[in-house]
Amino acid sequence: DTTLKEAFKNRFFIGTALNTRQIMGGEIEAIEVVKQHFNSIVAENVMKSGRIQPQQGKFNFSIADEFVEFGERNNMHIHGHTLIWHSQAPDWFFKDEKGNPVSREILIGRMKDHISTVVGRYKGRVHSWDVVNEAILDDGSYRESRFYEIIGEDFIKLAFQFAHHADPEATLFYNDYSMSNPKKREGVVKMVKKFKQEGVPIDGIGMQGHIGLNNPTIEEFEKSLEAFGELGTVTINELDLSVLPSPWGDAGAEISKNFEYEDEMNPFEKELPEAVQEQFNKRYREFFELFLKYQNSISRVTLWGVNDGNSWKNNWPVRGRTDYPLLFDRDNEPKPVVKELIGLG
Ligand code: XIL
Repeated sequence: DTTLKEAFKNRFFIGTALNTRQIMGGEIEAIEVVKQHFNSIVAENVMKSGRIQPQQGKFNFSIADEFVEFGERNNMHIHGHTLIWHSQAPDWFFKDEKGNPVSREILIGRMKDHISTVVGRYKGRVHSWDVVNEAILDDGSYRESRFYEIIGEDFIKLAFQFAHHADPEATLFYNDYSMSNPKKREGVVKMVKKFKQEGVPIDGIGMQGHIGLNNPTIEEFEKSLEAFGELGTVTINELDLSVLPSPWGDAGAEISKNFEYEDEMNPFEKELPEAVQEQFNKRYREFFELFLKYQNSISRVTLWGVNDGNSWKNNWPVRGRTDYPLLFDRDNEPKPVVKELIGLG
């Protein structure tokens, strides 16, 4: 095999996020990489509620339509991200004309409207959805978002019911970050088990997959794959591997502390130091080996961007840094690890 999608063909979809420029026909070289190596796509931003319904009842479907048409033209699995999320949600969702918080009933109605309209428009065309994103904190408790404060924990199962009603064939996911964290894993397992018992239409769990050079450990990630795999299908939704130190010390602290950061924003200029490079390759290899081990439960592995220049990691958690988290470099050339991953497939 010579491409990622061929290598993992009978195992799981291999996907990438598309940014707005790519959807609008820009970044032609990146799009060539997408067509060559990937058989699934997700929109990095344009299907989020703030983008798709910036004002109440004023839906902005044009870019999302282009995104879906691109996937259809190229026979891809199309994933929708995301219906209900506390972030990148428009303020109007939670407020009345006077700016006061809306009632539970009204917010449920707005959720229903939003979900039915978006999922309904792409019925049979968007194959899977992140119905609810990031509703649980790292300690396993519910995030006190405005959805939670106004509706209570039921907002999650209601969202799944509305989505299922709008497209009974779509595969519906709960998606979150830090999913290898033991407390968070427990919290998610508890919630999804309860949903299954109650007949809530949830098909699977998405693990975001924003990883660092040392954390999370393969062992903890594996425990989550095992636990989530018992509850349904699993996806790795937003895979990227930051090589930069993070404020939480969880992105390669061990390795990066051995380097003098002359330029904190761009510590590695164009070449990664060998030790970082090696760890980068090793981590991608180990994670893909793990995904293959769990190929019976994993339906899709999606990279959060095509090339390093596209990555949100250049701006988060510190603005304006230069990170190298993806599989293709800033010139859209495959990194050496791509060949290794293809070899695993
Ligand atoms: C990020 C995008 O990559 C950025 O372009 C945007 O500015 C903020 O959101 N978890 C998610 C994704 O579920 O939607 C986020 O994407 C990254 C974290």
